[in-house]
Amino acid sequence: MGKMEGKMKNMKNIEKNNCCLGKTLKRVFLISYFLFLIFAFSSCSGPQKTVSVESDLVVVGFSQVGSESDWRKANTISMQDAFSAENGYRLILDDAQQKQERQITAIRNFINQGVDYIVLAPITMEGWDTVLTEAKAAGIPVIIVDRMVDTDDPDIFTCWVGSDTRREGDTAVQWMEKNLNGPLRIMHLQGNIGSSAQAGRTDGLDAGLQAHPDWELVFRAPGDFVQAKGQELMEEVLEKGLDFNVIYAENDNMAYGAVNALKNHDIVPGKDVTIISFDAAHDALHMVLSGELNLDVECNPLHGPRVRALIEQLRAGKTPQKYTYVDEVYFDSENLTEEIIAERIY
Ligand code: AHR
Repeated sequence: MGKMEGKMKNMKNIEKNNCCLGKTLKRVFLISYFLFLIFAFSSCSGPQKTVSVESDLVVVGFSQVGSESDWRKANTISMQDAFSAENGYRLILDDAQQKQERQITAIRNFINQGVDYIVLAPITMEGWDTVLTEAKAAGIPVIIVDRMVDTDDPDIFTCWVGSDTRREGDTAVQWMEKNLNGPLRIMHLQGNIGSSAQAGRTDGLDAGLQAHPDWELVFRAPGDFVQAKGQELMEEVLEKGLDFNVIYAENDNMAYGAVNALKNHDIVPGKDVTIISFDAAHDALHMVLSGELNLDVECNPLHGPRVRALIEQLRAGKTPQKYTYVDEVYFDSENLTEEIIAERIY
């Protein structure tokens, strides 16, 4: 073998070795790649399972008005209990802090997130057409709860459940007709102007004022269903020296505020002044028993199971009733007992 031939053979051997080395490297690379895939896949399997368990849950976006009153807090708890993971739901709760713009933003967020159902407790009646039309276009059923909406097209929401607040106002007026004598000078604390809770209770009182020439409206202003505002307004009235013998407070928290203001001015609530309230929360009912409040018309906040029942009907392919009014009662010193209060949830 010449020198040249020897070199060629060496070169071939080097090539052969390089080729083997290349194949080995390829194999190592492929094995590492598969090992990496197995590792990556198995390390993802934990969270993936959670996602798949979570994706079995029905997702409900709930736009809540705020937390302005005891009623509202009881309502939020009722919704959270009804739409728990144990019941097969994931509730996305948005507290709008009494602002309609925030509720509209929350609904748009729910649409973007692709929730299964939207539940809306509307702060006011007006102003929902555009955003509810967007929800309808996205194919998401909307259930309205508690207060009513006023829309051009009632098909933009699926159904509604809540209180007949006009009937609550009428109940209060009937009680006044039956239980109070002589000329009435009424001091009126209103809820959020434009909400159906305010409108119904105000309309009821207005009908009473209309029907009774000896009933006079001394003062009327919105306290937004908030205790501090109720107290502020009452202090204002007392400082002005206005003469009144009835307080018509459109919810319990404003009534609590009014009672505090009266006490600050050595006026005995429930005796010197008749106090009428709405909601029938626990604290208020104790005040009815002790005589500080004279009448509390129930507004029931326990809507969680009611809304869930509506959603369950929809899931079963049924068409729920469009409007469901909750049965409500009233409490005064004649019909209220400790036992009744103890049995009540809120
Ligand atoms: O819409 C229900 C009303 O809203 C309740 O009477 C009041 O307490 C709440 O804030």
